[in-house]
Amino acid sequence: MSFTELVDTKEIIICCGSGGVGKTTTSAAIAIHAAIRGRKVIVLTIDPAKRLANSLGLPELGNKERRIAADKFAEAGISPQGELYAMMLDTKRTFDDLITKHALNDEMRDRILNNLLYKNISDAFAGSQEYMAMEKLFEIYAEGKYDLIVLDTPPTKHALDFLDAPKRMTDFLDGSVLKWFLKPYFSAGKLGIRMFQKGTAAILRTLERVTGISALKVASDFFISFEGMYDGFKERASAVYELLRDNATAFLLVTSPDDITIEEAAFFYDKLIEYGMPFCGLIVNRVHADYGLEPEDGRAAPDNSSEKLALKLGDVLAKSAVEKKAIQVIAAEMARNLRDFKCLADVDAENIRKLTSRLEAGTAFKTVPFFDTDIYDIDGLMQINHHLFET
Ligand SMILES: Nc1ncnc2c1ncn2[C@@H]1O[C@H](COP(=O)(O)OP(=O)(O)OP(=O)(O)O)[C@@H](O)[C@H]1O
Ligand SMILES: [Mg+2]
Repeated sequence: MSFTELVDTKEIIICCGSGGVGKTTTSAAIAIHAAIRGRKVIVLTIDPAKRLANSLGLPELGNKERRIAADKFAEAGISPQGELYAMMLDTKRTFDDLITKHALNDEMRDRILNNLLYKNISDAFAGSQEYMAMEKLFEIYAEGKYDLIVLDTPPTKHALDFLDAPKRMTDFLDGSVLKWFLKPYFSAGKLGIRMFQKGTAAILRTLERVTGISALKVASDFFISFEGMYDGFKERASAVYELLRDNATAFLLVTSPDDITIEEAAFFYDKLIEYGMPFCGLIVNRVHADYGLEPEDGRAAPDNSSEKLALKLGDVLAKSAVEKKAIQVIAAEMARNLRDFKCLADVDAENIRKLTSRLEAGTAFKTVPFFDTDIYDIDGLMQINHHLFET
């Protein structure tokens, strides 16, 4: 399926890949294309560069969907048939929203939200960003307001974090820390909790007198305040998993062509397949252009290389120009530069070949060149689209 077909038919498109490869940029570009194709689309972005957020009209703090105004498109000379919305995922807010949703009552909600440990955990919780992206995706999908949701994913140290997020959340809840603090008392029912509170209260008071800190009390309060929320989290995590595996979802892998990221992409690709996720396309972004001119029959012809042509151009110009010497120096520099670029382009091409050789026939695949400026506005995103969606 081509990228255009994916954009026309899927309900969820997830752009994933290593850190810094262009996931946020690509997600925004794909969403614009979907809007141009007439769909009502929302892009959920994570930490977009400030200039990109500005040009999409997104305020700094997020978790609110905003429609991209027609004048933003008009500036770039386009008038989409569909509608484009964007939302910046503010993971701390999502975490709070989640607690609010699952808390059994207001008192419980406030107890958790005001807990010191929660405040720290929700900021620095391992994997919370990944988990929250999944949560928000699920929530928006369930509302059914959009034809297509394009999900940007957070930069992950390890490519697996993202797929493991829902599982890691339930593992955390199942895990040893919580078991220690919570499980025995849960299974003992309400009475157990009260006894636990009484019992620990005495111990904690003693510890606090000795140490002068109330951290332990904060911690035990925190875990106790999760009582009753456990099932809600767990059910949701498995519903999120189902949604990810659904046929209406498409995973796109974004990568750059350098050695390390290509290796990470190959690893990630294997994991997507292993997890049974609907992998649909590969985008290799920031590919060095090969300016070398190849002869039409495909044989290498040194005299026809961009490097040689730059030198020839220097010779021609030097014949008629005044600054003959300077022109020839510049031409030689240009030739050297082009030779370096050719090396980079060759390495990129070889790396890309390694990765694409693993793909099944029919998988969408495109390369996007390394532009000489950052992509921060609709014009820039349209340049990406020119490469992604050209036929
Ligand atoms: N094809 C390109 N040519 C030039 N610059 C690009 C290209 N694609 C993306 N960029 C720039 O690279 C930077 C990183 O892109 P982006 O933020 O989309 O990456 P990311 O994968 O979302 O990063 P992170 O993992 O940190 O979230 C941005 O400044 C963006 O403008
Ligand atoms: Mg990003």
